[in-house]
Order: sequence, then C-alpha cells, then structure tokens
Amino acid sequence: MAKVEVALNSIPEGKNVVIKWRGKPIFIRHRTADEIEEANNVNVASLRDPETDEARTKKPEWLVMVGVCTHLGCVPIGEAGEYGGWFCPCHGSHYDISGRIRKGPAPLNLEIPAYDFPTDETMVIG
Ligand code: FES
Repeated sequence: MAKVEVALNSIPEGKNVVIKWRGKPIFIRHRTADEIEEANNVNVASLRDPETDEARTKKPEWLVMVGVCTHLGCVPIGEAGEYGGWFCPCHGSHYDISGRIRKGPAPLNLEIPAYDFPTDETMVIG
C-alpha cells in the first residue's frame, strides 16, 4: 500500500495542508495550544460520535484526517463552520477542531487514517 511522507517543518503552527493519499484528500492541521485546549474542553458525552481528542491524535499538535464528509462524501472546507474546524458545504455539516461532527447531517467524525512519525521531522500517512 502506498505511503506518503510529509515534512512536518513545511506546515507552520495554525495551518492546514491537504495532501492526496490513495486518491483521497488527507487533512493535516498543525494545531495551536489554544486549539488543543478547545478540543479537550468538549464534553465528550454530548457528542454524536463520542471520541476524546486524545483518541484521535498521536501527538496533540498534529491532527490527521481523511478529508471526506461522513454524510455523502463531499470534501469539507477548513477553518470554517461554527465549531472552529471544518464545514461541509454540501448539506451543512460542522466539524470541530478535532474533526468531530457537531452539527448537520453527518453521522460520524472525520475518519483518522493510518499514520506514524518515523522521525521528529516527518509523518508518514498509510
Ligand atoms: Fe457533507 Fe452532506 S456530504 S453534509
């Protein structure tokens, strides 16, 4: 299975990048300390698809997700929506800064792909 290597120093804090992996967009966000705190301050029991931020990240500053809306497969827009994360314009699903569904028709959080950090400077998707 094809893997994609990403140089972490190419993504400044507070920025998103989108790469392609197995024909799908992968969203990578280098989160700020405030964003990590916000993600952890959510009452997980209140979520439609209850997942802690910790369960969704290997290193809290790096959020890595498949950029495909879990409703009907559109590609959400970054830095948009009512919860500080992603917004899917197709039917109005709002995802938070952990990629968790917060409002709109999508049933599940944005999927987390397989990924790892072979060194402190690189991430490998796949
Ligand atoms: Fe995203 Fe419907 S495909 S809200």
